[in-house]
Amino acid sequence: MSTNKQPWGNTVDVEFSDDIAFVYFNRPDKKNCMSPTLNREMYATLHALELDNRCKVVVLTGRGAAWSAGMDLKEYFRETDQEGDAFKMRIREEAASWQQIKLRNHAKPTIAMVNGWVFGGAFTPLSSCDIAIASDDATFGLSEINWGIIPGGNVTKSVADTMGQRNALYYIMTGETFKGQKAAQMGLVNESVPADQLEKRVRELAKVLMGKDPVVLRAAKEVFKRVRYMDWETANDYIYSKSDAAFARSGGEFRGGAMTAFLDEKKFKPGLATYNKDGSKKKSSGSKTPAKAVKPVKKTSKK
Ligand code: COA
Repeated sequence: MSTNKQPWGNTVDVEFSDDIAFVYFNRPDKKNCMSPTLNREMYATLHALELDNRCKVVVLTGRGAAWSAGMDLKEYFRETDQEGDAFKMRIREEAASWQQIKLRNHAKPTIAMVNGWVFGGAFTPLSSCDIAIASDDATFGLSEINWGIIPGGNVTKSVADTMGQRNALYYIMTGETFKGQKAAQMGLVNESVPADQLEKRVRELAKVLMGKDPVVLRAAKEVFKRVRYMDWETANDYIYSKSDAAFARSGGEFRGGAMTAFLDEKKFKPGLATYNKDGSKKKSSGSKTPAKAVKPVKKTSKK
């Protein structure tokens, strides 16, 4: 049981650095496998970070040798086997609520920084992150078949979305492992880099994302995730509606300034860079809502 000393408790930890919230799976002695407690604490953490001004980008990573070794075979499976149906359904819902709903639709951009082992159930939060960068030495596996279950928790859907039919079926059926470069080649992650460059690359990427209009950035990712399941006409209408809503919510300052800088002042090329209203270096912008849900953290800028 967690003492819940922060919204993120003990099984999750957060460090803030340069407007990035590094969110850690924090059970290194258990290879960061996901227990019911971790699932509840991860939901609370991600929920709190949506209104926390110290966080403009979420980076999900793991303490120690693992990103996450998937669902906890002891606490999530064996210890709940004898529980009643309502209990089992509740712990499934708690897992899905952060892995498939909160993370997938997070208000801030999300990057998976894949530092080590990724097995089974961990493929779902991996796929739910907007962008994923792996270390070359990270090891991935759809290990469910190795211990006698189908990849559940929407892992099967996650890999159908990200790896394609041939690759997904191969790894679902063989349970073989693969490394970061292979994950990138298949499209499960965007890139794979040497371990000593992983954090640097993720920070660079986070900085790029911070340069965009945050309201439009959120709408853009939401739109992508929805339109895949729509027909063309519905998608077209939906995208324009979301675009108009984002314009109204953001106030259009970024867009208006960018158009003036390109069309009138001739000092900016949108094809080649992000608009920067302050000149050379754009300061990151984000929610003006005060962070009420999150208490100050004990440590800062360790990463
Ligand atoms: N569920 C429960 N416990 C897990 C776990 C999981 N998914 N993954 C690791 N652990 C536990 C181990 O039981 C061990 O606990 P212990 O110290 O009490 O004995 C501890 O974490 C360390 O793991 P260990 O197996 O000793 O580390 P390793 O470096 O030798 O191997 C793995 C690492 C990830 C290859 C191995 O732990 C493994 O195969 N884990 C299961 C992965 C899996 O199939 N996940 C899919 C779940 S859907």
